[in-house]
Amino acid sequence: MSDNTACAGGALDVVDDADLAPFNTFGLRARAARLVHVRAVAALQAAVAAPHWHLGPRLVLGGGSNLVLTGDFPGTVLKVELRGRRLLRTEPEAWIVEAGAGENWHDFVRWTLAQGWAGLENLSLIPGTVGAAPIQNIGAYGLELVERFDSLDAVALDSGVLRSFSAAECEFGYRDSVFKRNPGRWLVTAVRLRLPRPWQAVTRYADVARELAARAIEAPGAADISDAVVAIRRRKLPDPAVLGNAGSFFKNPVVAADTCARLLATHSDLPHYPQPDGGEKLAAGWLIEQAGWKGRDRGPVGCYERQALVLVNRGGATGADVQGIAQAIVADVEARFGVRLEPEPVFV
Ligand code: EPU
Repeated sequence: MSDNTACAGGALDVVDDADLAPFNTFGLRARAARLVHVRAVAALQAAVAAPHWHLGPRLVLGGGSNLVLTGDFPGTVLKVELRGRRLLRTEPEAWIVEAGAGENWHDFVRWTLAQGWAGLENLSLIPGTVGAAPIQNIGAYGLELVERFDSLDAVALDSGVLRSFSAAECEFGYRDSVFKRNPGRWLVTAVRLRLPRPWQAVTRYADVARELAARAIEAPGAADISDAVVAIRRRKLPDPAVLGNAGSFFKNPVVAADTCARLLATHSDLPHYPQPDGGEKLAAGWLIEQAGWKGRDRGPVGCYERQALVLVNRGGATGADVQGIAQAIVADVEARFGVRLEPEPVFV
């Protein structure tokens, strides 16, 4: 059933008892009591002001690429479909580019490159939307979103008030932000990126350096880096359109330096990366592979054969199946290494 509730500033498209399978890249089966397609900020604000709004829980959904649905959702799912992208202003040291939260992230990255505004190329081919990028501070191949972030706009879902957030106000961390820690409190409507002038290539990540060397590119431009990242991701990561997944399923754990030293004594090949706070970040994919899970299935969910950090839906999986294999992996890695892995996606 679908109806268009006319609101000031545009229509709000509402669907009752909606199928969520097409809206989560894991392809998990679940339904929502109500699904709202958010296509205009003013329509959303009008909906927040309506008396029935405060009934039931709320879930803000972008591309659904970092989400594990563990069952049906009894409340309102807000599907963000706010569009638009533009150069907001040119500063001596940066281009400030703005995009609606519902724009596809990778299309947006390629569009900025085509316009000659480099800086996002290392984040090519990350699934999901522009609005979701700051929520988990996406990062890959030597770059995190926070390094290119200017500010964003968000609507408070309890009051309907639209406000801006600076980088400091977003409280970014590794795959973390104030929005990820307070789900359902704000809906991000637009994001502004700060793309540096002059541009400098970020090629320190081993995989990127290797790929560029293999292509005999010595002084890469932004498009070369984007192409290299796309090639690496296509090799290692499953395409959600073909094999359901939510990207990295676990965060790379940060441990104390002495814990890392203890592990290195028995596992000299353990990948580890020193952190500014003195800790060491370990490669969760390596720990999972050593624990014997790479390429192994448990029911309809598998640990991906080319990157152990990714769990895949081999067909018909539910959220409970995902939780089952995830708990088994966490238990095995903890028993073997004494390190507790934490999931990266949001569980609903
Ligand atoms: N490794 C293994 N076995 C595996 C996977 C990895 O031994 O099955 C080892 C690799 O050999 C390497 C190290 O682990 O020494 C790191 O592997 P990789 O470069 O593939 O990166 P990652 O740490 O596994 C992180 C991000 C990815 C991002 C890549 C590239 C997290 C949780 N994941 O993965 O992000 O694309 O780096 O920068 O930080 C995502 O967040 O959804 C995601 C895909």
